[in-house]
Amino acid sequence: MSLEKKKQIAAEAALDYIQLNDVVGVGTGSTANYFIDGLAKLKGKIEGAVASSVASSERLKQHGIPVLDSNSVAMLPIYVDGADETTTHKHLIKGGGGAHTREKIVAAISEKFVCIADDSKLVDILGEFPLPIEVIPMARSYVARQLVKIGGVPELREDFITDNGNVILDVHNLEILNPVKMEQQLNNLAGVVTVGIFAIRPADVLILGTDNGIVTS
Ligand code: 5RP
Repeated sequence: MSLEKKKQIAAEAALDYIQLNDVVGVGTGSTANYFIDGLAKLKGKIEGAVASSVASSERLKQHGIPVLDSNSVAMLPIYVDGADETTTHKHLIKGGGGAHTREKIVAAISEKFVCIADDSKLVDILGEFPLPIEVIPMARSYVARQLVKIGGVPELREDFITDNGNVILDVHNLEILNPVKMEQQLNNLAGVVTVGIFAIRPADVLILGTDNGIVTS
């Protein structure tokens, strides 16, 4: 089965978690896009969506799905999003699309986080995928130097500004053996807005598209 098909079946399986009148948290990326396209079929049955990026917000609106401000909802029943890497513990690396700050906010206000991905994203140890870190532009060099001290090789994402007006450092060469600790440590650096590790608040459900169909854990 192709990678795209695996993403699509994982995304469509997540539709089963949506209930009548839900406000749905919606992620960003190619897998999330399949979910948005599937959600369009349920649009009269949900109240609306909270989007984690301008791109997803646009796609939702194109389908006629109402997009709500995250500040207008106390808690979302569900958030569906992709990942760049996941472990069996549902610790994730996100931010390949540069949207992980807003994604982390949506995850924080959601009761259930359903992660959807093709099975190539499943890893034993996080870190082969370069870790995205959103940084305030003024702190770029300082944060990069701190990352080198812990063995990382940071690379400024070229020609990219986040929806929040910041830059992204993609950090190579990190073996993230303790994702919770690393998330805390990197988030504490002055000038870091958000690190792309989702371990303090991991996913609750993982739906992987595989050659044999979907595998849910
Ligand atoms: C965006 C993300 C995405 O979830 C992640 O990059 C996966 O994307 P795709 O579904 O296109 O592989 O974190 O910031």
